[in-house]
Amino acid sequence: MSDLISEKKKNLRQEILRIRNDIPKDAHLEKSRRITEGVLTLPAFLGAKIIASFSSIRGEVDMHFINTRMASLKKQLALPRVNADHMTLSFFAVDDLETLVPGAFGILEPNPAHHAEIPYEALDCILTPGAAFDVSGYRLGYGGGYYDRLFSRLSAGIPKIAPAFDCQRVPEVPRDVFDTPVNYLVTEYKIYSF
Ligand SMILES: Nc1ncnc2c1ncn2[C@@H]1O[C@H](COP(=O)(O)OP(=O)(O)OP(=O)(O)O)[C@@H](O)[C@H]1O
Ligand SMILES: [Mg+2]
Repeated sequence: MSDLISEKKKNLRQEILRIRNDIPKDAHLEKSRRITEGVLTLPAFLGAKIIASFSSIRGEVDMHFINTRMASLKKQLALPRVNADHMTLSFFAVDDLETLVPGAFGILEPNPAHHAEIPYEALDCILTPGAAFDVSGYRLGYGGGYYDRLFSRLSAGIPKIAPAFDCQRVPEVPRDVFDTPVNYLVTEYKIYSF
């Protein structure tokens, strides 16, 4: 990865995360609700059985609305655990969000002693976090390459859906060869497909 691209990613990440952090609490909840309602209208979501989602941190779209509804939607929720040694994610079946425990980075994670692991091949749809998204669906994450590594191991047809605030849209995200675009970006105003 070139230092120049890396530096550009770092700057854009800081800028957008600062803006996202400034969304007032009420607006954050209301926008999160609208975004998750939008996700629920996507055929790529509706047609999936096993859904990889995430526990929200750092001002991310609040995924609680959707994560708590998976059972009534007849979906299996899969949440990731960070393997810091390999910088990879492992997914586990979660039926009760109360059983999650804080893991690496303080994110609420499944506990392998209580949740069954779901292999990557079984995931039907990936709800993808991120800092910024561009007009071609390219994604800027938090700098660990975790989702880039996951995407490189999935078959190309698995839909990647990014729930994100409108303020996270940018004209262009700096691109490295390993960066993979998402298929859908769902904001509080609009659904973009790429
Ligand atoms: N498929 C891959 N295999 C191995 N390393 C990878 C892969 N994809 C990305 N990386 C490594 O991950 C590091 C971080 O990449 P990048 O800055 O794009 O992270 P990011 O997309 O912001 O992070 P994340 O995916 O965790 O949200 C890079 O140094 C890169 O070498
Ligand atoms: Mg990346």
